[in-house]
Amino acid sequence: MNRIQPLGRPLREALHLAKYAVLVMGLVAMAAMTMPGLRAAAGGAISLILWTCLALFAAEIVAKTWQSLHFGHQPPYPFSGTFWFDAVGVVPVPVALLAGVPPEKAWLFGSLWILKLTALVPGLALLGRIIKLEARPLASVLLIFLTVLLLAGVAAHLIEGPVQPDKFGNLPLSLWWAVTTLTTTGYGDAVPETYVGRLIGAVVMICGLGVFGLWTGILATGFAAEHRRREFIRNWDLVTRVPFLRSLDAAGVIELTRMLRRQDIAERSVVVRRGRDGDCMFFIGAGEVEVQVEPTPIRLGAGSFFGEFALLDGGPRSATVVTTMPTTLLILDVTDFRAFTAGHPKLAQALEVEAARRRQPVKDVDHSAAGDAAAQ
Ligand code: CMP
Repeated sequence: MNRIQPLGRPLREALHLAKYAVLVMGLVAMAAMTMPGLRAAAGGAISLILWTCLALFAAEIVAKTWQSLHFGHQPPYPFSGTFWFDAVGVVPVPVALLAGVPPEKAWLFGSLWILKLTALVPGLALLGRIIKLEARPLASVLLIFLTVLLLAGVAAHLIEGPVQPDKFGNLPLSLWWAVTTLTTTGYGDAVPETYVGRLIGAVVMICGLGVFGLWTGILATGFAAEHRRREFIRNWDLVTRVPFLRSLDAAGVIELTRMLRRQDIAERSVVVRRGRDGDCMFFIGAGEVEVQVEPTPIRLGAGSFFGEFALLDGGPRSATVVTTMPTTLLILDVTDFRAFTAGHPKLAQALEVEAARRRQPVKDVDHSAAGDAAAQ
């Protein structure tokens, strides 16, 4: 039987590009639909474009549903968030037209097509996770916001209400002033006139700065913590693949992983240059480097390390090291190196042994086993 294969990557990317081109075209046509002059001159063409976009988005839903069921995607597309974003772009326009909403208004629901772009923003999932993790502090700040808002609204209503009944005569009006003041937006459509009212305004504005400062601080700290967590997991994964570090226990791996900085380096980049001072050593997480030693350069692959000579003897770099392909390095700075080797003398000793082995004349050295033997 001729089995259907999933689409290849280039075709998938081309389809994605086409989808976003259709999206932009649809949004431009939607805007044109709201302009009476353009609608009168080219209403038919605009409608055709809009209907074509809608039909293509509907076809996309059908194709994705079929594909998901055929290839057994988990969760199935009809139960995923993407499905709802896609459906919400297709259903409202025909429903509004059937309900008798004028076309220029009904097609405004086409603005929901923009939700398709959320798939392009990986940071959104990260933001969702941070909001979930920091829900308690964020909720506390929100509560402070609401408390100040309500108290300021009531106070403004009591003080300013009799003076400016059209702006502060009821609580909703005063709350509107409190929101624009607390968010430090200050439209200027409602301004206290009494001295006490202005004093309340000043306090509310200062509270607003504090509340938004707190929100920003919580979110920024959450982003930083999440970034560190993700870095840790990625680095951990790479560290456990370095044979030389296999002798470390879990606590040692955690300690070292926290010390390492990851760096992705392009092909043919000089990582260390012969004769320069060295203040760090490198573990190769992925990729390959070439140590330019005479007479034959030596290649070190994933799981190996280099740059230890300069840290062990305090001398300059003994050789230039260049990446031969895109490479991921884990960098251990000299201060961390000293602290770590002081706490793990066996590993320090193994490093010395390996360095001594590498310094031997080339004919005696078996580079294929670089580092492995020394660590055992
Ligand atoms: P360092 O001298 O700090 O910087 C260059 C690095 O290349 C060096 O540390 C070693 O890690 C590495 N290197 C130098 N000579 C050899 C060799 N013969 N075999 C493997 N690695 C080497």
